[in-house]
Amino acid sequence: MLQAPRGTRDFTPGEMQKRRYIEHTMATTFRSFGYGEIQTPTFENLELFTAKSGGSIIDEIYAFTDKGGRQLALRPELTAPVIRCYVERLQMEPKPLKLYYFGNCYRYDRPQKGRYREFQQAGCELIGADTPEAMAELLGCAFTLLKNVGLQNIRMNIGNLTLFNRLFAHFKLEKPAQKTLLPLIDKSLFDDLRVALGDCDLSGEAGDQFINLLQTASLDEIKEFFHKDDIAVQELTTMETVLDLLRNAFQVTDYEIKLGIVRGLDYYKGIVFEIDAPVLGAEKQLCGGGSYELVSLFGGTEVPTAGFAVGFDRTILALEAEGFTFPSPALDVYIIPVNPEMVLTTITIAQQLRKEGISVDFDQLRRGMGKSLKYAAARNALKVIIVGLKELEQQSVTLRDMKTGTQEIVPITRIHSTLKHP
Ligand code: HAM
Repeated sequence: MLQAPRGTRDFTPGEMQKRRYIEHTMATTFRSFGYGEIQTPTFENLELFTAKSGGSIIDEIYAFTDKGGRQLALRPELTAPVIRCYVERLQMEPKPLKLYYFGNCYRYDRPQKGRYREFQQAGCELIGADTPEAMAELLGCAFTLLKNVGLQNIRMNIGNLTLFNRLFAHFKLEKPAQKTLLPLIDKSLFDDLRVALGDCDLSGEAGDQFINLLQTASLDEIKEFFHKDDIAVQELTTMETVLDLLRNAFQVTDYEIKLGIVRGLDYYKGIVFEIDAPVLGAEKQLCGGGSYELVSLFGGTEVPTAGFAVGFDRTILALEAEGFTFPSPALDVYIIPVNPEMVLTTITIAQQLRKEGISVDFDQLRRGMGKSLKYAAARNALKVIIVGLKELEQQSVTLRDMKTGTQEIVPITRIHSTLKHP
């Protein structure tokens, strides 16, 4: 039997119903925050993704050479493609420019629950604004997006890469040391980090202090540590304004400061954040984002940029784990002709109702009444219309309510109004 490739999935109509529901809610939320939709190609020139991250990223993505010898890659994310499009076509647009997107992404990850080789992201990029209110709104939008789809328990962690880099500078941890330490910090492997810090001549109290600052949720503790560092003090003041607005204006209180947020991608700077759904366990990160720099790298005039992306598939897993009831796919009407002579009338009624925006299906297998009603129930039909000989002589049909089982005779000309106003 042929199977879908490793790390990819098919989505059945029942699963698609859930996905479309979430997509619709997220799109409505993005639009309510003033974002407009953008779509970019599924594959890009490989260079777009290696420009910032270097060649090592090739191991993690689907890179290939096409028949014309071009080096291409299936996109692993959409930030670089959206910024490429901005530089190519949108630089003259009035700022700030707010763009949202849905798109499949491809990563050569090791598949497991919540981690796939093909997955969908819903995300946005904010181009040309980095005031505290713009950043607070971005964080607020990410949180609202996940709340609006129906998630109960989510936590936002907020870090800052400017402060993170100041921390490295204070402890005199140079680039080669950072290379070893970053993956351990990213995975919160603090015991291993302590050992690695020892290897970098940072053991004992200083090592403990470094680790404590990465873990603490106390802004006061961080402020106390940085109080003589002008760059850090300025960054902390801005960050406090962002957090005040997030709490008091956007009503987001489920967040924590976490300087240990590294973010996997290389383009970030300043404020970064992640949103987790604790219910998911291992692959619990639903959303990641922050401010970053890519525009000048792609040949544009530098402007502030920030954004985030939500893992669509993990959002569904989290909703299912929380026991969320998705709206069920209902068919408005199922029509059963009692014999083949009634087929023409059946289709005529179906077509008329479809024109009115009602979802209609009809028996195409010439089954008996019992089996047809069973099928209509399995399809979640709200009403069944039975086209019978006797009723048709009166230009009428039988309308059955599938919930209550009650039936009434309705003139064909009044089916639509009866359905709309029972
Ligand atoms: P990211 O953190 O790499 O950020 O991905 C965003 C989200 O995509 C993750 O939080 C996760 O939910 C989901 N995700 C990532 N990899 C997989 C996978 N293999 N299977 C399922 N879901 C996955 C970015 O991609 C940035 N472009 C976000 C951003 C936008 N930053 C600024 N603007």
